Amino acid sequence: MIIEEKRAWWKEAVVYQIYPRSFADSNGDGIGDLNGIAQRLDYLKNLGVDVIWISPFYPSPNYDNGYDISNYRDINPEFGTMEDFDRLLEGIHARGMKLVIDLVVNHTSSEHPFFIESRKSKDGPYRDFYIWKDGKDGKEPNNWGSCFSGSAWQYDETTGQYYLHLFAPQQPDLNWANPKVRDQVFDMMTWWCDKGIDGYRMDVIGMIGKENFDDGEVAPGALYGSFEKSCQHTETTHRYLREMRERVLDKYDLLTVGEAGGTCEGAIRYASLDGKELNMIFSFEHNDGLNDGTPLGKWSDHGAPLGEVREIINRWQLGLIGKAWNTVYLSNHDQPRQVSRYGNDSPLFRVRSAKMLATLVHMLHGTPYIYQGEELGMTNIYFTKLSQYRDVEVFNAWKQWVESGLVHPEDMMRYFARISRDNARTPMQWNTEKHAGFTTGTPWIEVNKNYLEINAEDEVHDPDSVYNYYKALIALRHAEPVVVYGSFVPMLMDDNSVYAYRRELDGQVLTVLCNWTEKTVPCAIQELTEGKLVVSNYDKHKTDALQPYEALVYLKK
Ligand code: GLC
Ligand code: CA
Repeated sequence: MIIEEKRAWWKEAVVYQIYPRSFADSNGDGIGDLNGIAQRLDYLKNLGVDVIWISPFYPSPNYDNGYDISNYRDINPEFGTMEDFDRLLEGIHARGMKLVIDLVVNHTSSEHPFFIESRKSKDGPYRDFYIWKDGKDGKEPNNWGSCFSGSAWQYDETTGQYYLHLFAPQQPDLNWANPKVRDQVFDMMTWWCDKGIDGYRMDVIGMIGKENFDDGEVAPGALYGSFEKSCQHTETTHRYLREMRERVLDKYDLLTVGEAGGTCEGAIRYASLDGKELNMIFSFEHNDGLNDGTPLGKWSDHGAPLGEVREIINRWQLGLIGKAWNTVYLSNHDQPRQVSRYGNDSPLFRVRSAKMLATLVHMLHGTPYIYQGEELGMTNIYFTKLSQYRDVEVFNAWKQWVESGLVHPEDMMRYFARISRDNARTPMQWNTEKHAGFTTGTPWIEVNKNYLEINAEDEVHDPDSVYNYYKALIALRHAEPVVVYGSFVPMLMDDNSVYAYRRELDGQVLTVLCNWTEKTVPCAIQELTEGKLVVSNYDKHKTDALQPYEALVYLKK
């Protein structure tokens, strides 16, 4: 099947995500900053990425590391000044790259002036900027649990009402039903667009449209009800996004990506090729979704078996192609390190499996997202003490499950080590100097001790490094339209070790074979492939078997 897809720069681009706190510290205070990013732009240009997405850098009390914003039109002094931002944007554009910024408007910080005003009285002008309700029989207005454990409602003594927070209590949800809230958000978005940014990554955007406040279903073993039916992917959310499109997005040439999860059908509504809402969304099924059905949600020992991961990714590939644009990724600041989760981070297999996973993702249909350090094959840090963590999600989960006696501390520490977000938030490993060259001061979170083996300086110079392998994959995407616009045909679906697929476009055929395991496995390579071998993570190959974590990409022109 040949797919005719309209060309667009954001379909052909590779995006690189920066978590500014952990990327590069330019002034020795232990916190990454905008000038630190500016100093590393040549590193990113050399890698070949087209777009840089920077997680929030706005003023914030940092209960959730900047995803709780207290001023949307300024820069957190920890990260620099507006002049630093302007210079950074200029530097990005001067190198032919683009900048996507994070739009966090499902909620603000509880220290945002709107909320400070809102909580003062029941009839103030900002009261309706947030969602306030009376309690029910002396308890919360409904049974919803927050994404960060505990109830989604916080009682506020000043006025004797509760406010809604789908995340931490310091992240009150905005009331999008109030047209004044939408005016504020759209004005602010326009302001950044006029400054010259090239796109938005929209934080939990699927939750903005609250349709009702009915009690939610309580899953077996769960302590609270789910807000899913009332707040996730509602018609109201779609209406707001169409309004956003008309009032802001359509006036510019932007990359828009929604953090919206959900199902393929849902994604097709958000990101359909008719362009009425967003360009693309992030799905969560292949990461968070793997744990579905466990009472503790993401906190589990569940691994990432090929069968499950492949079923999900292929379903999204086949479901969206020709209907909606897709994103492809395994890592971000909310997930553990991909080589630790899906691959094998032991010294023997780390490099091979990091490259295998990169091959698998970068040859898929959709815009690939690389999370900082992924291109080096950075691994989980495996903290052993609670005091090593920094993430509000960890502390709230500890309170809800361990302090209440419901989960054994050792089990919880094991889940944290495996899956916690702080695994992705340890500082970028630049070189073999103290603190991996991230800072001359004391880093805000520990640096992974493996920086002597895993660091950017060595990898840039080593032709066999994970970094140079990513560079080759990105170059292949830029050179061959089949990688961007080709069809997707799953192969070897009965094979429990090999993830294989083909892409086709105008007579070009790309075949991808990836061994997901640490064993040598039989594979009829010659029969399955056409054309020339263009990328591989091994120098020597067998004809009838794939070596441990071997990845092969063949191209017939
Ligand atoms: C998104 C962000 C995450 C944040 C949450 C609340 O999921 O990616 O880091 O904690 O939204 O803003
Ligand atoms: Ca700094």
